[in-house]
Amino acid sequence: MLKIDKLSKSFGGILATDNVSLELKPNSINALIGPNGAGKTTLFNLITGKIDIDEGQIFIDNTNITNLKESEITHLGIARAFQITNIFSTLSVQDSIKVALLAKQHGLNNMWNRFKAHSINKEAESIAKLSGLTKSYNTISSALSHGDQKLLDIALALALKPKVLLLDEPTAGMGPEERWKMIDRIQKLWKKTKMTVLFIEHDMDIVFDIAQNIYVLQQGAIIAEGTPKEIKSNKKVIKAYLGGGKK
Ligand SMILES: Nc1ncnc2c1ncn2[C@@H]1O[C@H](COP(=O)(O)OP(=O)(O)OP(=O)(O)O)[C@@H](O)[C@H]1O
Ligand SMILES: [Mg+2]
Repeated sequence: MLKIDKLSKSFGGILATDNVSLELKPNSINALIGPNGAGKTTLFNLITGKIDIDEGQIFIDNTNITNLKESEITHLGIARAFQITNIFSTLSVQDSIKVALLAKQHGLNNMWNRFKAHSINKEAESIAKLSGLTKSYNTISSALSHGDQKLLDIALALALKPKVLLLDEPTAGMGPEERWKMIDRIQKLWKKTKMTVLFIEHDMDIVFDIAQNIYVLQQGAIIAEGTPKEIKSNKKVIKAYLGGGKK
């Protein structure tokens, strides 16, 4: 699955990623936590090829993806939910998902193939269902609620059929009720697919509730990893993070 080996990245004098190693198990759901500026998003940027790696290596199923182009890494099975709904703001949920599916199939030529068009309809419907967007299937993206826009981001990532799905604060900006709806949805789609999920989340109740394995970052370095039970009782974590008043 996803394996990160001694990864480091500096921005000027700041060591944003400090000798990070981790290995995600297939079909697992994992959380990446740490205070603001700990380097969580930077780690996602390194994994997806958005920024170049200084030192270390990344593998997906034993394929070395270190410093490959973003598009190549996506093709090899790592997808990320972005706030990209703006790009599709004038399209409906259905059409946005279809565009993502067609992009995955390399080329709009497929659109003129009847058989493919039929299979794309089916696939788009099933992705919308998986993402909890069946009711909004024909809604224009820009008219969706904040929560549904986030779900559309995830749906677009799912259209790429990833092995690994990276979610950077999927519940950001949501009220408590909407948060748990989102988490429930993420949990459901993780269970239904064979994906490995790594999510960044500040809400510890959510993290402890759904993550099988938790990685704790502080100043770019992993200071602890383990099950929710192990992390809750880890002295380093309590001192560095949980003790400082959780968000
Ligand atoms: N492109 C960049 N150029 C310069 N510095 C950067 C860049 N990206 C991140 N940093 C710095 O690297 C450090 C880690 O930032 P990062 O965004 O990864 O943290 P984070 O854990 O995601 O924080 P948050 O919880 O606030 O989202 C910070 O000091 C940040 O200022
Ligand atoms: Mg971040």
